Amino acid sequence: MALNPSVQHFQTLITSFHPVVVIDTVEEERVQGLISAACADMQMTVFEWSIAQGLMRSPDSPDHRWQNEYSPPSAKRGQALPQTTEPLDMLRHIQDLSFKAIYWLKDFAPHLKDPVVARQFREVADQFSRNRSSLVISGTGHSLPPEIAHDVVYFDIKLPQPEELYGAVADVVRSLKGRVKVELSPEDIHTLVKALQGMTLSQTRKVVAYAALHDGKLNTDDVNRVLERKARVIHEEGLLDYFPSETNLAELGGFEGLKRWLGYAKVGFTPQARRYNLPAPKGILIVGIQGCGKSLAAKTIARQWNLPLLKLDAGRLYDKYIGESDKNFRRAVTMAETMSPCILWMDEIEKSMGQTSGEGDGGLSRRLFGYFLTWLQEKSQEIFVVATANDLSAIPPELLRKGRFDEIFFVDLPEADERHDILNIHLSRRQQGIDAFDLDELVIASEGFSGAEIEQAVITAHYRALYENRSANTTLLLEEIKRTVPLSVTRREDIQQLRAMARERFVTAR
Ligand SMILES: Nc1ncnc2c1ncn2[C@@H]1O[C@H](COP(=O)(O)OP(=O)(O)O)[C@@H](O)[C@H]1O
Ligand SMILES: [Mg+2]
Repeated sequence: MALNPSVQHFQTLITSFHPVVVIDTVEEERVQGLISAACADMQMTVFEWSIAQGLMRSPDSPDHRWQNEYSPPSAKRGQALPQTTEPLDMLRHIQDLSFKAIYWLKDFAPHLKDPVVARQFREVADQFSRNRSSLVISGTGHSLPPEIAHDVVYFDIKLPQPEELYGAVADVVRSLKGRVKVELSPEDIHTLVKALQGMTLSQTRKVVAYAALHDGKLNTDDVNRVLERKARVIHEEGLLDYFPSETNLAELGGFEGLKRWLGYAKVGFTPQARRYNLPAPKGILIVGIQGCGKSLAAKTIARQWNLPLLKLDAGRLYDKYIGESDKNFRRAVTMAETMSPCILWMDEIEKSMGQTSGEGDGGLSRRLFGYFLTWLQEKSQEIFVVATANDLSAIPPELLRKGRFDEIFFVDLPEADERHDILNIHLSRRQQGIDAFDLDELVIASEGFSGAEIEQAVITAHYRALYENRSANTTLLLEEIKRTVPLSVTRREDIQQLRAMARERFVTAR
């Protein structure tokens, strides 16, 4: 059987004299899988250690070598060696062992804060760099002392691949045998596994078991249940918000230019386009006045293309640990990659990659920005980026250069025909029928209003109608509109400045 590329990569690290490999994950089960797959093939013994259990030979560690070279009476597989729970004792113990092995130390990083443990660790690492044994540290939030960080190589454990997810589903089905009926065709299973992508194995097992036990059946209805659960899991991770295409009902008035462009660009995702050596579209930037539908446009694109939408939470990128932001970004992007084709939505991009955020934080956001640019340039996966921005002056000019995005759109205040559409959308949504409204009059009255302001006036007028126990009508809505002072009045100068900058440089969204 061909080895999984991650296993191969891990083996290469071990055989190329890397004495310390750090794996940042809580999924010990997958570390276990990785180490056993790698070691079975390399004929290496595996030990594992935790502060609770001490050091023991892994239950599934291969047999060879063991009997010939080292066999203390108490060292049965899966049984801890005496006096090895303390980190220092354990390190001294393994320093005395003289053969090639992998020592998997669970949640070890915090113990390295002790200078004696750190020193002993260095000595072991130094010895291992000669005899080809390796220490593998797993856990999260590693901040290693600099003298140790020097010897360390990081290994990224990828999210589970479709085959692994398939295996997890099969495990669950087997363990629930007799208790649930499986009503899935091979295509359904494919859809289910696709819906599971982006989750860890243990999350997958829980979701599938829940979905099956809930009604005693595992069928196509469960795909939606899985999608809902995934939305929650991704949200809890904290970096991305997930909007499944099934639940996206965004409706955007106007934006004809953008909608037309999306029509063309969609062709870029087809096999025909590949045949002509055309690249898949990379993404767009939508710049414009607040409340005019930029965020809504991002949702609409996902809806129109029927793709899942992942929104990047820019604030959360800046984790409390300095220097983690690019790692967080990488994690978010990795998640998006497992879910491709998808839309990655970076709302108000000036807040995460902006110039103003770059000064006070020691170049943190500069670095993140650099990483983002490279990723945008080189990404091969079918991830379409939709970035939005309100404040053009805060965006680094590199981002506006030709070729970064496929297109940059400018969104101005809606014109008469667009206000007509927007009124139509928001009045129809209130389920009173729009016959009671004189749209032409309302369109004239709402000149200078953004979509958000129009929506707000519609809502307030309906509140009032409900309160006064009558139906909403043109008069009521006109009163609300007259009462509103739109941004185009209160922030006239800002808007004019944005217009002047954007109009001649970018394509208009309408
Ligand atoms: N063109 C539009 N069509 C329909 N609704 C709109 C439009 N523009 C704005 N809205 C309404 O205003 C709300 C806020 O718009 P949003 O997309 O958040 O604006 P922006 O991101 O440009 O600040 C939307 O959720 C929507 O209800
Ligand atoms: Mg917005």
